[in-house]
Amino acid sequence: MGSIPFLPPSASSVSGEVDAFYFFMVAVTAFFSLLVFGLVVFMAVKYRRKSDQDQPRAILGSVPLEIVWTAIPFLIGMVMFGWSAKIFFTIMTPPEDAIEMYATGKQWMWKIQHRNGKREINELHVPVGQAIKLKMTSEDVIHSFFVPAFRTKMDVLPGRYTTTWFRPTKVGKYHLFCTEYCGTKHSGMIGWVYVMQPEDYQKWLQGDSGEGTLAQRGEKLFNELGCANCHRTDGKGRGPSLVGVAGEMVELERGAKVLADEEYLRESILNPQAKLVAGYQGIMPVFQGLVSEDQLLQLIEYLKSIGKTQKAPAAKPAAPASRTAATAATVQGKGL
Ligand code: CUA
Repeated sequence: MGSIPFLPPSASSVSGEVDAFYFFMVAVTAFFSLLVFGLVVFMAVKYRRKSDQDQPRAILGSVPLEIVWTAIPFLIGMVMFGWSAKIFFTIMTPPEDAIEMYATGKQWMWKIQHRNGKREINELHVPVGQAIKLKMTSEDVIHSFFVPAFRTKMDVLPGRYTTTWFRPTKVGKYHLFCTEYCGTKHSGMIGWVYVMQPEDYQKWLQGDSGEGTLAQRGEKLFNELGCANCHRTDGKGRGPSLVGVAGEMVELERGAKVLADEEYLRESILNPQAKLVAGYQGIMPVFQGLVSEDQLLQLIEYLKSIGKTQKAPAAKPAAPASRTAATAATVQGKGL
């Protein structure tokens, strides 16, 4: 179908089915439009008034006809509903094997962070054949992340995370657009997605990733912002220890419970009073406006790295934990 003008290339695991559904709807609509207009013309000619005495016979309804023209559109409607729901669920459900990346929309650019610490602007490099899950948020207003070749589009909202995923199937360079009017240079908020062979992607990923992984940067921030002073790893700080918290249920005041997912962690950094952990006082300062969305993602990556979700594979948390404790000790020594 690449020869159809205006149709973007089809380069993801869902794009073929989205196109098929689209053409099915176009075909159904075209068929009925032609049928109706054809019949209008045909009837107008066939049953035109042939003489002054020509009087049409009154029609008093027909039950079989009513049933037919109710049932057929109903069935076609249900096929459209069922098919589109199936595609919708596929697009909305990231597969288990998806690798995670972070995108932040900002007037007027796309900032991408890879978990190993590599960052890019208005460019997104991904390996072919691999499912990619993008966790997205905005620094300012609503943007929308759209890659026509993948047939995926998702709004990017300030103050919360949205997720989109795709599995690119063809190596190449594809347009990335913002599809939500977001100010003067909305039309310039465009970029490129580079789909690479896995080996090339690995090479690209290893090239100067700068100051360590996202989790390492998050840990650095955790210390710089003074989080480690109170959130001591021995659990004796003024705030709860955050080791093993990410991805777990957290107990709040009055017996309520909440899952410590990215959304909860983000809220608890920006507005700590919103959901206080049971047994702790609301003394943590508000970090709203003090940390950027990119930094929040780094902090969350760090919390995930010392959280339940990441703890199983290695005994690695010991190192950051002891360093955190050491920092806490030094800072406390200064009477802060
Ligand atoms: Cu961002 Cu339009």
